[in-house]
Amino acid sequence: MTAQIIDGKAVSVKCLDKVAAAVAERTEQGLRAPALAVVLVGDDPASAVYVRNKKNACEKVGFRSLAFEKPASFSEAELLALIDELNADHSVDGILVQLPLPPHIDSQKVIERILPDKDVDGFHPYNIGRLAVKMPLMRPCTPKGVMTLLKEYGIDVKGKNVTIVGQSNIVGRPQALEMLMARGTITVCHTATRDLVEEVGRADIVVAAVGRPNCIRGEWIKPGAVVIDVGINRLDNGKLCGDVEFDAAKERAAYITPVPGGVGPMTIASLLENTLEAAKLHDKE
Ligand code: GUN
Repeated sequence: MTAQIIDGKAVSVKCLDKVAAAVAERTEQGLRAPALAVVLVGDDPASAVYVRNKKNACEKVGFRSLAFEKPASFSEAELLALIDELNADHSVDGILVQLPLPPHIDSQKVIERILPDKDVDGFHPYNIGRLAVKMPLMRPCTPKGVMTLLKEYGIDVKGKNVTIVGQSNIVGRPQALEMLMARGTITVCHTATRDLVEEVGRADIVVAAVGRPNCIRGEWIKPGAVVIDVGINRLDNGKLCGDVEFDAAKERAAYITPVPGGVGPMTIASLLENTLEAAKLHDKE
């Protein structure tokens, strides 16, 4: 069997088109365009690329985007004060602070300072809690993007064995909550997992979110499984690769996401959807 490739780029374009149409409709009705504030602290080159891509996507769909680029010396107190300002600004719908932050800043404190209805990343404990009780408000972007991809390809999670490799706050944990809400039977693997090969091997759907190139071997995949690769790793030769050994996994899986062009573009698509949703919440204020 050779897997069908899940084209995240194509699905993300479809999502962006939908958001752009909704923005056009809003402005026709006299409502303002959604506005996203993106905050970058320090000079991590990968973060700079992600932030630029987010800004470009905002402009493409007709959002107003505000960029705050601060030096690595920016203090935690200054960052919290900036968030307070953006929280109070009624013309701002979404606030995104790019992670990772420099080590002298407590990321969790920063995340918790953002008003939950402006937390378009969905990282605030309030939003994670809402997802946990099946009443999501802002859903974390990457896990939400994975659910959109599965839906677009007609892949039903209900009753499936889902193995998630990785337990991060950004992907693994919220992905487990999303899959549970979709009525999958969930296993989350981490460094204390005793038999990773077995856990991956019995999965109907595998989500890899480890951050280590090719660490999920193709031969572990159950024939006919769905393989979702969240990893974006840069190799020494400059090429990007995922967490899954793609060429080998593709020969066993029914569906697989490539890297790049799989989950990556969906993170931004979800961010724009969340910002539109935030603007709709703020219309009522
Ligand atoms: N760093 C890596 N992924 C993300 C993300 O989705 N949002 C933010 N804010 N930072 C990140």
